[in-house]
Amino acid sequence: MTFKPAEWPRKLRSQEWYGGTSRDNIYHRGWLKNQGYPHDLFDGRPVIGILNTWSDLTPCNGHLRELAEKVKAGVWEAGGFPVEVPVFSASENTYRPTAMMYRNLAALAVEETMRAQPIDGAVLLVGCDKTTPSLIMGAASTDLPSIVVTGGPMLNGWFRGERVGSGTALWQMSEDIKAGKMTTEDFLEAEQAMSRSSGTCNTMGTASTMASMAEALGMALSGNAAIPGVDARRRVMAQMSGRRIVQMVKDDLKPSDIMTKQAFENAIRTNGAIGGSTNAVIHLMAMAGRVGIDLTLDDWDRLGRDVPTIVNLMPSGKYLMEEFFYAGGLPVVLKRLGEAGQLHKDALTVSGETVWDEVKDVRNWNEDVILPVEQALTQQGGIAVLRGNLAPAGAVLKPSAASPALMKHRGRAVVFEDIDDYKRKINDEALDIDETCVMVLKNCGPKGYPGMAEVGNMGLPPKVLKKGITDMVRISDARMSGTAYGTVVLHTSPEAARGGPLAIVRDGDMIELDVAERRLHLDLTDEEIAARLADWQGPPEVPAAGYAKMFHDHVEGADTGADFDFLKGCRGAAVPKDSH
Ligand code: FES
Repeated sequence: MTFKPAEWPRKLRSQEWYGGTSRDNIYHRGWLKNQGYPHDLFDGRPVIGILNTWSDLTPCNGHLRELAEKVKAGVWEAGGFPVEVPVFSASENTYRPTAMMYRNLAALAVEETMRAQPIDGAVLLVGCDKTTPSLIMGAASTDLPSIVVTGGPMLNGWFRGERVGSGTALWQMSEDIKAGKMTTEDFLEAEQAMSRSSGTCNTMGTASTMASMAEALGMALSGNAAIPGVDARRRVMAQMSGRRIVQMVKDDLKPSDIMTKQAFENAIRTNGAIGGSTNAVIHLMAMAGRVGIDLTLDDWDRLGRDVPTIVNLMPSGKYLMEEFFYAGGLPVVLKRLGEAGQLHKDALTVSGETVWDEVKDVRNWNEDVILPVEQALTQQGGIAVLRGNLAPAGAVLKPSAASPALMKHRGRAVVFEDIDDYKRKINDEALDIDETCVMVLKNCGPKGYPGMAEVGNMGLPPKVLKKGITDMVRISDARMSGTAYGTVVLHTSPEAARGGPLAIVRDGDMIELDVAERRLHLDLTDEEIAARLADWQGPPEVPAAGYAKMFHDHVEGADTGADFDFLKGCRGAAVPKDSH
């Protein structure tokens, strides 16, 4: 990758607001001076927006104001002018019906926040699942220089001598309660142990995955992803990123220079190597759409198929992010990919160096955490993309989190029409189900839920759990938390609420899953499927107004990233019509 830095000095866009003596310049500049800024700060130096997703109701990002101070220090040191700007914070653990419904809204707000204001470059302060893709999407659509700083994971959770992984332990313990193996009192004690410091989920869940994706794409400084939220080195990373963004603005090093097809291919392979979340599929495709990169589900299957999962972290493995950091973190993984010929070594990063220059000299400090390739958790760690008459536009499954014995399976469908139907039936002892069945959940895709909630790893029925069974084949158009596990087919497309074949599956139909063959088949004739689809009555409810209607009318399918149709692409930073 050859990148030619822009000439410096030159006039930056912030000078349109601050640079002259017109009435409007005085209006923009004079009011800001009420914060005590001396006049020489408006001399044309880069104005850096620190876009902060801190919120009391986004606990995973609760420490970002402290990190923002370190970013500011770095920006000042490098001769920039830092301004901290709050942006939409979609918290995974509070937003209903699901934070995913607000990812695109957050991205829209971020894009307009950057375009409408005197910002020359941005530090994206993110952490919780949706905050990372939404800010990258918004920044990419303006194509202003941007650098990602994540809040870092929580420290290890420990409960009675065992590691307690965020989310992963929650899924497991809630099943243990249903199976009568754990008391509610113990569950509450474990809950406190699970979240013992500031930071994001400490498993290789979606937050850690997206932090890794940002680093693998080259949008964060090397080593950013794994540093714990409370480690002093996290604050150093914030300060260094503040310094770096000032130079990026001077050089005019933009997201479109970094987020190339090669960079996305590096990220997809990285996701396989770390055993990352299936949510990365949707978020990376949406991010690629913002910079005009053609990324498809087939890219995921093609590139991930031969990548061994070498990061031994929950939910696929044993350890947590703190241990990943001590072992050397993502740079070690990128180096392994490079040595295996699975990395575009000359992809550019925010540092101005290539990804290979950043990682070629790192060392693995713990081969039980970052495994040698021969001891990989699975040799085929990528995301499997399934197709067939049940998923003409594709569905995904994470092999490293699935049960090998269920990867080829034929079973009788037990159908739940929507999440309420599932909740009504699942604990009923009269439900006609056993461990050989295939659980099918409909109407949980982008339009269906709405928002595509993380309900695809639906809990097993108690009568199956009590037999000691821990996994069954489950199929839906929903997503799954990155912290979850199981033989779970997700993102089935087209979704049921758009009239995809999932909509017409009935109790008793036979379904075949064959992961090796990438096949998902509903055992009905084409004529029977066509006849049932002709009778399909449409989704039960369509929102009449408000954001829910906007979402319903414009959200695209999971198979292309579930972005809004009118937000795809890069619109640049020019203000459409300046009234001043
Ligand atoms: Fe916020 Fe996991 S819920 S990072």
